Amino acid sequence: MTDRPVIVLGVGGHAAVVFDLLHIVGKTVKGALVRIGAGLESPLSNLAVLGDDSALSEYMPVDVNIANGIGATRNTEARRSAFSNAQALGFDFPALVHPSAIVAENVELGPGVQVMAGAIIQTGARIKANTIVNTGAQIDHDCLVGPHCHISPGAVLSGAIVIEANVIIGTGARLIQEVKVGADSHVGAGATVTGHIPKCSVVRAPQSTVRPASERSK
Ligand SMILES: CC(C)(COP(=O)(O)OP(=O)(O)OC[C@H]1O[C@@H](n2cnc3c(N)ncnc32)[C@H](O)[C@@H]1OP(=O)(O)O)[C@@H](O)C(=O)NCCC(=O)NCCS
Repeated sequence: MTDRPVIVLGVGGHAAVVFDLLHIVGKTVKGALVRIGAGLESPLSNLAVLGDDSALSEYMPVDVNIANGIGATRNTEARRSAFSNAQALGFDFPALVHPSAIVAENVELGPGVQVMAGAIIQTGARIKANTIVNTGAQIDHDCLVGPHCHISPGAVLSGAIVIEANVIIGTGARLIQEVKVGADSHVGAGATVTGHIPKCSVVRAPQSTVRPASERSK
């Protein structure tokens, strides 16, 4: 992917971390866009607001790349639609990896994936577009994490887990090996997950689900 100056979507807490990461990895940041209707004042002294999201059409995909600064704490919708809209206009989202993260060689990172400070991703893992692997999260070998997910700070995914699209794994949640979390689910902070989670579920700690013995491979 061509190394172009970057425009950040959003100016909130996640945008501040993304802006910092862009700086650390040596990208030139042009400025930020805010959601339509929001004020054009930037809370970040060194990140200028260029306009609202409608101003994206003033730029050409050959001239700038995009970084998604919109977080996903309660749902993934705003982050997902911002990504899809800009991608439909032809803009590229580079994957970003903090230098303190450990990412094994044989790991696939989709467009716009953000791997934050201290995260660990082990061999064979595949992380799809626009997913956040947040501070200190661990994704072990052969996991598949779908698009538009948020693996929150300190969450631990053991080996060979499947996380479908638009899932939030809360801060410090722990999932044992080989479980599957259905699309649009939200695993609460601190939850321990020992079985499959159906789509659109909310899991609160303390809670675990039971997978029938017949479904276990070993
Ligand atoms: C589990 C979660 C999705 C539930 O959200 P919600 O449905 O809006 O729940 P509410 O905040 O209305 O709380 C409902 C009840 O569940 C409890 N609860 C909320 N989250 C909980 C959690 N993670 N573990 C245990 N109980 C929890 C609340 O204390 C409340 O209990 P009460 O009815 O006895 O007062 C959410 O609380 C959560 O943990 N989100 C993850 C946040 C996170 O990790 N963010 C990362 C930011 S980078």
